[in-house]
Amino acid sequence: MKKEPDNTRPLAYVLFKKYGVRGALRVLVEDVLFDYYHRVDTFRPVSNKKLFHGGNIDEQNRYVPSTIASISSVMEVLQEWIALEDCEFVDLGSGKGKALIAAANWPFQHLTGIELSPQLHNTAKTNIERLDLTKKITLLQQDAAEYQFKPNEQVLFFFNPFTGQVLERCLENVTRDGITRFVAYMNPTEDEVYCKHLKKIAHRHFQPGDVEVCFYKTP
Ligand SMILES: C[S@@+](CC[C@H](N)C(=O)[O-])C[C@H]1O[C@@H](n2cnc3c(N)ncnc32)[C@H](O)[C@@H]1O
Repeated sequence: MKKEPDNTRPLAYVLFKKYGVRGALRVLVEDVLFDYYHRVDTFRPVSNKKLFHGGNIDEQNRYVPSTIASISSVMEVLQEWIALEDCEFVDLGSGKGKALIAAANWPFQHLTGIELSPQLHNTAKTNIERLDLTKKITLLQQDAAEYQFKPNEQVLFFFNPFTGQVLERCLENVTRDGITRFVAYMNPTEDEVYCKHLKKIAHRHFQPGDVEVCFYKTP
């Protein structure tokens, strides 16, 4: 059984503890106030017990958003290997759309988010409508294990969204067509599963928050 976070602490306490003083201020401005300013909802976490019932609930992870800072760091690394303007971006387990919204600042041809929870999918839809990003971002409400990648979807992002059979099936689909793809995996608790399907090319820690990300390439 996964440990649920303690949501009773004040937001300021959580931010300062996780990101330090300067990092907390950055996240406050770029992520928390972003939501207030644009009247969107991307930052509040949601437990997986509120999202999923039955099935393989222990393989689906809860919703925690990326930060603008962490996605920027990921993109800076990825563009060492691939021209972002030549390909499309897919977020597997896109939640309320935060990683997509942050990645839309980079020159991808298009962005797609795959999210299992209808509740989070609907919140993401409202968010991207309010941000006028509907032409740039496509949202699909489905199990990522079933998703068939298009040839130019060559940059894939996983913020530790799922484990077990769901992850195995998704990674089989990533490599099935032999296309070169780059995968960024944030909070990499299942590194050995990714290494079974992909070739690991880098392992980095980004500030603020000491965010751990592994990077892989299709073999
Ligand atoms: C840690 S959150 C990441 C959210 C988003 N990628 C971001 O970076 O802001 C993981 C997300 O994966 C979703 N998820 C879990 N299992 C899934 C599955 N089988 N198919 C698609 N999405 C799934 C959860 O609902 C949750 O929104």
